[in-house]
Amino acid sequence: MDRVMLKNGKPLPKIGFGTFGSDRYSPDQVAGAVRFALKAGYRMFDCASVYGNEDKIGAVFADAFENGVRREDIFVTSKVWNDAHGEGKPTESLKKSLRDLRLDYIDAYFVHWPFPNYHAPGCDGDSRNPDSVPFSADAYLATWRELEALYDAGLARSLGMSNMTISKLDAVLPHTRIRPALIEMELHPSFQQAELFDFCVDNGIKVIGYCPLGSPNRPERDVAPGDVVDMELPQVLKVSRARNIHPAQVCLMWAVKRGAIPIPFSGSERNIVSNLRCVEEELTDGEMAIISGAERGCRLVKGQVFLWPGAMGWEDLWE
Ligand SMILES: NC(=O)c1ccc[n+]([C@@H]2O[C@H](COP(=O)([O-])OP(=O)(O)OC[C@H]3O[C@@H](n4cnc5c(N)ncnc54)[C@H](OP(=O)(O)O)[C@@H]3O)[C@@H](O)[C@H]2O)c1
Repeated sequence: MDRVMLKNGKPLPKIGFGTFGSDRYSPDQVAGAVRFALKAGYRMFDCASVYGNEDKIGAVFADAFENGVRREDIFVTSKVWNDAHGEGKPTESLKKSLRDLRLDYIDAYFVHWPFPNYHAPGCDGDSRNPDSVPFSADAYLATWRELEALYDAGLARSLGMSNMTISKLDAVLPHTRIRPALIEMELHPSFQQAELFDFCVDNGIKVIGYCPLGSPNRPERDVAPGDVVDMELPQVLKVSRARNIHPAQVCLMWAVKRGAIPIPFSGSERNIVSNLRCVEEELTDGEMAIISGAERGCRLVKGQVFLWPGAMGWEDLWE
């Protein structure tokens, strides 16, 4: 698996494997997909405590290590969930993730969302938690300080942020002692986040792109009228027909050529294998220009369940 170098000198595979079951795939099914993905050649796995399957995935890793996969060959991420922000809790949370994943260290530890607002697993789109609060740079930095201590202790080899915006990054980056090596954000042809992407590149931060295929099986709460289907966009189809490849591969090749690390999930062995091909060939500049034209500003993970009392709408989360 080809790798890119993070600014802190750590190598990262060019494509990873998602592990969120979208409230549709059971923990055992996701772990089965991870087992197959490892066999197929994936070496980066995007985990999170809230996905509720780290213990099952940990058993797969343990098995892989017994069967010749070396720890240093795989790059595993995890994320502190929103109910574990603040002092003390991120450390507890990482230690639990490490026990579950059966690892001594995590390759990158992320703050999953920039709010301490959480919802019940599997909730519907109208759910709100009355304790939710707007973004606060001070509160975020209190959580980040704890991640920095985990980095110092060698438990997290790199740190990452997720679901950020430029204004939030402007508010926190100057106050970080350990800069994020990675930022995870939603990225697919109909939602390219060009400004935020360029901001990360300019700041030497590598981007991980989630929902790289437009998350066709996302939870019901993340489905809204007017959402675009990325794999049916005319620009994506134009390139896929000309190359005689599946639109999924076009989405992933576009991400890789752009310099993002896509982390598609699949429960299908055929798709797990074919998605890996995106690192074997490159789109041309002309094809990249065609996909640039697919931008529709279509954010799929709007995050409305994290809204606080008094917020106007999900757009408030992304200021
Ligand atoms: N940081 C965050 O807040 C955040 C938020 C959302 C997601 N994520 C991460 O990003 C990962 C990926 O996101 P996602 O799973 O929502 O979306 P995605 O990877 O864009 O889409 C996954 C879906 O696409 C289908 N698929 C995969 N390969 C395909 C192919 N070659 N042809 C046709 N369909 C294909 C899969 O169905 P089959 O099973 O049938 O193949 C699967 O249901 C997650 O698993 C998670 O790790 C992070």
